[in-house]
Amino acid sequence: MAENTTLTVAVLSGKGGVGKSNLALNISFALSRKGAKVLLMDCDLGLANLDVLLGLTPTGNIQDILDSNLKAETVLVRVDQGLDLLPASSGVVESFNDQHLMPALLAEKLDKLVGRYDYVIMDVGAGISPTVLNFAAMAMMRVLVVTPEPTSLTDSYALVKVLATRQGIRDHLVVVNQAESAKQEEMTYKRLAAACSHFLNITPVHLGGVHNDSNLSEAVRVQRPMLLEYPNSRATKDFYALGDKISKLRQNMLPRIAGLSPLHLPGSSAKN
Ligand SMILES: Nc1ncnc2c1ncn2[C@@H]1O[C@H](COP(=O)(O)OP(=O)(O)O)[C@@H](O)[C@H]1O
Ligand SMILES: [Mg+2]
Repeated sequence: MAENTTLTVAVLSGKGGVGKSNLALNISFALSRKGAKVLLMDCDLGLANLDVLLGLTPTGNIQDILDSNLKAETVLVRVDQGLDLLPASSGVVESFNDQHLMPALLAEKLDKLVGRYDYVIMDVGAGISPTVLNFAAMAMMRVLVVTPEPTSLTDSYALVKVLATRQGIRDHLVVVNQAESAKQEEMTYKRLAAACSHFLNITPVHLGGVHNDSNLSEAVRVQRPMLLEYPNSRATKDFYALGDKISKLRQNMLPRIAGLSPLHLPGSSAKN
């Protein structure tokens, strides 16, 4: 079997509305604009957003792949040079009841497809539902998005705790979104890290931050990615910086991920 070079990254948050989808979208653009092959996967089943943020109307989605014999390639949408979107559906209650079978089915159906990309960026829904926990466990890397709001901090802590107890996951990269200053970003990270370290003996790594930037709301309004609509804006620079950091991490991880499947099966013995 060829050596794996795909890095799968799950973008997570305890609380909704903290900026996950915009982060997943703009990091994907940042990586693809630097020459990488990227698959952006909408894993917020039932409440998909990425198609809306891009002003697209996809004809098929990830649920169709799970529910039928449809090939994954047929629902892919080319978004940019080197960047494809695997959409999810919105307003459809999750039909997949057998949650413990979902990861294996998804891995089987997507294995070949994801292997063609350098990165698979998974925009996972908020909260601690079985679907969220499964997607989080299937990725090789987890990016936890947190804002300075106390509720975001407590919900992030809850997610870290549940991922540790239910899936044995103890590695997290933290992105602080919407901080007003470097000091506030650092404080936010430290509060979360202190709680995780004290109560769970887990130390999440501070990956970086995205400034609060009013242009981002405007980009959402016009359904264009921030990175293209406001190429010189503050948050755009932050997205590029985060992309660079993830790219360096991938380079360092290549020997370690060579023998792994891009989509890990939760509960299997291979360690990511
Ligand atoms: N860095 C930021 N600066 C300003 N507003 C932001 C920022 N990040 C997110 N937002 C606002 O938060 C809203 C929700 O973001 P979204 O990415 O959809 O969150 P999630 O996917 O976590 O639910 C956006 O529509 C935007 O208005
Ligand atoms: Mg979202």
